[in-house]
Amino acid sequence: MKWAVIGTWKMAYDGVCKAAEILEKGGIAAEAVLAGCSDGEDNPNYHSVGLGGRPDRNGRVFLDGAFMDGDTLRFGAVAGLEGFRSPSRIAYALKDEDANNFLAGPGAAIYARAHGFEERDNVTAEGLAIWQKEKDRLRSLSAYDGHDTICFTAKDRHGTVCTAVSTSGLFMKEYGRVGDSPVAGCGFYADSLIGGAAATGMGEEIMKGSLSFLACHLMEEGKSPMEAANEAVWRLDRRLRQKTGSCRPMSLICLDKEGNYGVGTNILFPFAYACEGQKPVLLIAEPADGKTIIRNV
Ligand code: GLY
Repeated sequence: MKWAVIGTWKMAYDGVCKAAEILEKGGIAAEAVLAGCSDGEDNPNYHSVGLGGRPDRNGRVFLDGAFMDGDTLRFGAVAGLEGFRSPSRIAYALKDEDANNFLAGPGAAIYARAHGFEERDNVTAEGLAIWQKEKDRLRSLSAYDGHDTICFTAKDRHGTVCTAVSTSGLFMKEYGRVGDSPVAGCGFYADSLIGGAAATGMGEEIMKGSLSFLACHLMEEGKSPMEAANEAVWRLDRRLRQKTGSCRPMSLICLDKEGNYGVGTNILFPFAYACEGQKPVLLIAEPADGKTIIRNV
């Protein structure tokens, strides 16, 4: 059975390479998506996830992360987590709990500490310097600027689909603000009988359309991953414009149960993809008249 993996943004390229190596050797989808997220979480040069992530309005880095296993539909998620290395791995552990699978703030930190997860101050000098500069320019920046979630969906040779996501959330977010990323069906979804999906962009928009679940639902109804991702994004985009006159940026990746990918986006959106027999590639998705077109970088 063919393996495949897709990740959001240029920053996912290295993670997709790592995930592809794992999947090529017969590793499982969970291991692959977590390796992808960890790569982003540990890289201080990516300023929207993990180490060096975007501080909130008060200069503190709070992380959101999630994991979903498409074989069982079990998921785990953390929100507003401060002082830990890997929200995606903590989310992975939470999926095995009977209940209490989604923990926020100090409760998430207590769980992570009790389960021996590595603690780390994710505020870096560079991250703070960028934050300071942006703060001074705040009036001319939109809330979305510089905020991207790293997301991976993978399918392994056994047919299991998993999705994992990790982010420091919205630029200059308020203390306590949580976006779509750790919310099942919005920022992430996986069902090995259908495929998987994950979203990045303005969480406050993505949550209005439960984009990740919608993409999986559309695939289950027979749409190709490209059709499903497109329809999910553009249906919500049109509805929001109809109701409010505008729609902010959002992008969606998905993978069907065969390992074919789909992307829908209303902004320019790089992503990385690899599958059995195809080396990892960085591609660009761009909006064109209510559709998404893909081109090589
Ligand atoms: N999409 C991530 C967030 O809105 O926090």
